[in-house]
Formats: sequence, structure tokens, C-alpha cells
Amino acid sequence: MKKIGIIGCGTIGSELAKTIDKSKINATLICIFDEYLNTANKLANELKTKVIVSTTIDEFLSCDIDFVVESASQEAVRKYTKIVLEHDLDIMIMSIGALLEGSLYDELINISEQHDVKIYLPTGAIAGIDAIRSVKHMLSEVTLTTTKNPRSFEGAPFFLKNKIDLKKIKKLTTIYEGKAIEAVKLFPTNVNVAAILSLAGIGRNNTKVRILADPKSIMNTHEIIVKGKFGEMYFQIKNFPSPSNPKTSYLAVLSAIECLRSICDNRVNIGT
Ligand SMILES: NC(=O)c1ccc[n+]([C@@H]2O[C@H](COP(=O)([O-])OP(=O)(O)OC[C@H]3O[C@@H](n4cnc5c(N)ncnc54)[C@H](O)[C@@H]3O)[C@@H](O)[C@H]2O)c1
Repeated sequence: MKKIGIIGCGTIGSELAKTIDKSKINATLICIFDEYLNTANKLANELKTKVIVSTTIDEFLSCDIDFVVESASQEAVRKYTKIVLEHDLDIMIMSIGALLEGSLYDELINISEQHDVKIYLPTGAIAGIDAIRSVKHMLSEVTLTTTKNPRSFEGAPFFLKNKIDLKKIKKLTTIYEGKAIEAVKLFPTNVNVAAILSLAGIGRNNTKVRILADPKSIMNTHEIIVKGKFGEMYFQIKNFPSPSNPKTSYLAVLSAIECLRSICDNRVNIGT
């Protein structure tokens, strides 16, 4: 049975912890860590299992674990993933946008090879990654169009330079068009899907991203167009946001749960 540690006790981390706690995943939750101790303590109090609330990453890594879930932030991926792998621990990463930065992805692959550990990237808030991976070498175009309610974009670094008042958007408005490599920096908590699409398909410089704000929208919609020598694919995924975090689609939470469940019970892997 895998012994799990979770970094990031927000929407995704809490749901995962509660799912393990209810024995719906063949694993034991050992420790949790959050940059806000109160957040981790609150989660610990909601669980039947007695878990260790780590106050530092060193304390977290000294726990008896063999698998880490990152459900925190791009910053957490940058800060902790290398040391997690160097401690011979497998990791499941949710803040996938960080992996498009510089040479981080290649560095992590190298470390994981040296330490014989694995990195898992759930499909998150979209579908079709398996199919896109299958035609990876035949692609000519991958375009992601993400539409969310303007309030989902609040706090994104994009608005530091672009003075758009999200509250004044009254109709469907294109707020960004560019490459995935740039989109994940400007909207770090909104378009992790652009990162997984890039890694599965034609890369961070060739994956095109459009971001639209729709004040009437109650769903997070991702439309993906994929073209190449194999033919064409079109996916549309309309997700309800998580009740506790409008930036995170509920499907992303469910995808994290299903990814961890299948890792912990690998007698059959459907669709991978
Ligand atoms: N892959 C996908 O499709 C997908 C979809 C949705 C969200 N995400 C990403 O998953 C991550 C978690 O999402 P969420 O909805 O649970 O977010 P959340 O904001 O609800 O929770 C994140 C938690 O992590 C903690 N945290 C942040 N940075 C930290 C750090 N450096 N060290 C320790 N703790 C830290 C925060 O205090 C918070 O409690 C986010 O980065 C989000 O962008 C990915």
C-alpha cells in the first residue's frame, strides 16, 4: 500500500486527502504540508486518520512516505520537485504549468531516471491527452480556447501590465492570445491544461492558447482543436468550477483522484 504525503491542502489536496481517508484509494495518508499551517491543521482535523502536519519541507520529507502529491502552486513545483525526486519518491504534479519553464522538465526527467522514480501528470481539467499523445509526431496545429467567468481570472499576473477591469466585462471578450509557454506564466492558476497539452503534443512554443472571459458563463470551457497528418480532433470540455475554488474545475479534482487511484491499484489501467 502506498504511503502518501500531500503538499498543498487547498481544494485538490483536501479532496484527495478525504478520498484516501474514506479508503476509496488503496493508500495511506501519512503527512500533509501547506505554506499556511492553519490550512493544513484544518484539513488534519477533518480526517479520521491521524496524519502528521509538517511545518517545513524537510520535516515532510523525513516522514515515512513513498509517494508525494503536489497540489499547491507553480512555485511549489519549482521549489520542491527536485528534492522530492532526489529523496527517491514518486510524485504526482498538479501545477503542471511550471514544467514549461526553462529546462525544468528535462532536469526533472534526468533526476527521475537517476533515482528510478516516476513523475505522474494527470489529465486534469481536459480530456483527449491519450489520443493527442498517440499522434504526437504527426501534428501540425494544437489550439486551446479557454472560456471562464471573469472572476476566475482575478489575481492573474497578466493584469499587472494589462489594465483590464474584469468587473467591467459585460460580454464575451478575448483577453489573451499567444503561446502556451507564455500563457502558463500569465495565468498560472487558470491554464495548466495548456501545459499538459504542450507536453503531450507539439510543445510549449507551438501550442496556441486563447483565453476568453464570459460574464454569463457558469462553467469553465476548454475547446481543443488538433490537426495533423492523422486527421483532425475536436474536444470540448465544459466543467463546473469547484465549489471552493472557481479557478479549479471540479473535473481536475476528480482527475487527480482517479490518477492516484489507478497508480495505487494498477491491476488494470483503462485509457492510459
Ligand atoms: N492540472 C490541472 O488541470 C489543474 C487544474 C486545476 C488546478 N490545478 C493546479 O493545482 C494546484 C492546486 O489547485 P487548488 O485548486 O487545490 O488550489 P488551492 O488554491 O485551493 O490550494 C492550494 C494550496 O496550496 C498551498 N500552497 C501554495 N503554494 C505553496 C507552497 N509553495 N508550499 C506549500 N503550500 C503551498 C496554498 O496555501 C493552498 O492551501 C494549483 O497550482 C492549480 O493551478 C491544476
